[in-house]
Amino acid sequence: MTQLLNGKVALITGAGGGVGRAYALLLASEGCAVVVNDLSVTPEGEAAEPGAHLADNVVAEIRAAGGLATADHGDVSDPEQARAMVARAVNEFGKLDILVNNAGIFRERPFAEMSWDDWTAIIDVHLHGSFLLSQMAFQLFVEQGHGGVIVNTASRTALRGKELQANYAAAKGALISLTQTIALEGKTHDIRAITICPRGLTRGWENAAITSAGPITDELRSRFSLDAPALALLFLVSDLAADITGRTFFASAERISEVRWEQALGLNPTSETTVHDLALSAARNELTYSGAFDANRIS
Ligand SMILES: NC(=O)c1ccc[n+]([C@@H]2O[C@H](COP(=O)([O-])OP(=O)(O)OC[C@H]3O[C@@H](n4cnc5c(N)ncnc54)[C@H](O)[C@@H]3O)[C@@H](O)[C@H]2O)c1
Repeated sequence: MTQLLNGKVALITGAGGGVGRAYALLLASEGCAVVVNDLSVTPEGEAAEPGAHLADNVVAEIRAAGGLATADHGDVSDPEQARAMVARAVNEFGKLDILVNNAGIFRERPFAEMSWDDWTAIIDVHLHGSFLLSQMAFQLFVEQGHGGVIVNTASRTALRGKELQANYAAAKGALISLTQTIALEGKTHDIRAITICPRGLTRGWENAAITSAGPITDELRSRFSLDAPALALLFLVSDLAADITGRTFFASAERISEVRWEQALGLNPTSETTVHDLALSAARNELTYSGAFDANRIS
């Protein structure tokens, strides 16, 4: 059977577990050589036990199944280590075609009590790490001359906000805007940029006794399996999605669909428009959404 990504090379960050591991296994099974990056930290970004290299296990799994993979233990938020990840793809596999910025950490705190460290740790890994690697991959794609795909990872939290997640929501929202801009600038170079908001049961969920979806049960595990986010990624990085760029996709076992911000019909102000006209328009649901789109209902 033809493999969808035969001869392609991908760098996937944070691929030692969770969503990233599922991405790496599926892409490798479709003929893609994968640089499996993971810093092996706790969900909050603290150093894990010394000597733990999650990426090595995933590389072993891929190789055992006959695929091509190499491990990288670098930190995506460190410019030199990010550069080394891209260099590893070129040194080991000769090029880079696909970058998936997936590495992530999570620190839930009430907004009023969020420390500077809790803020910067999240922004560094998600936003700064994705910026660094996206820019390095973009430059390499232009140099190589045959295009490429950049995937950034956001969350529904970016579109609707969430209590205790100001740092995470801000980083993820910025990633959607960054990706849209990379897509615009990438068009002339055949570079596509896409955002995926995955949802699936990973260690962050496992660590919680109860989640917003209910207690962790086998039913929940299969309802939020990681197969669907991986399938969505495979489609989006393949040539089957050659026309898709600058868009944001939600991907879970319950639904794979595009999500976006929308603008309400509103009112065209003139020099005669008063603040009371705006109040009247708002009361008539013209200024605001009249129910056609509700970020809280994104599921
Ligand atoms: N699981 C979900 O339902 C869900 C929902 C929305 C968004 N996401 C996003 O999907 C991505 C993957 O999440 P997950 O649930 O699989 O989490 P996870 O904790 O299972 O995996 C994240 C991996 O990233 C690695 N990592 C963290 N910081 C790193 C760094 N600086 N450099 C390199 N690697 C680093 C960790 O060691 C870990 O293995 C994240 O960006 C997350 O925000 C997940």
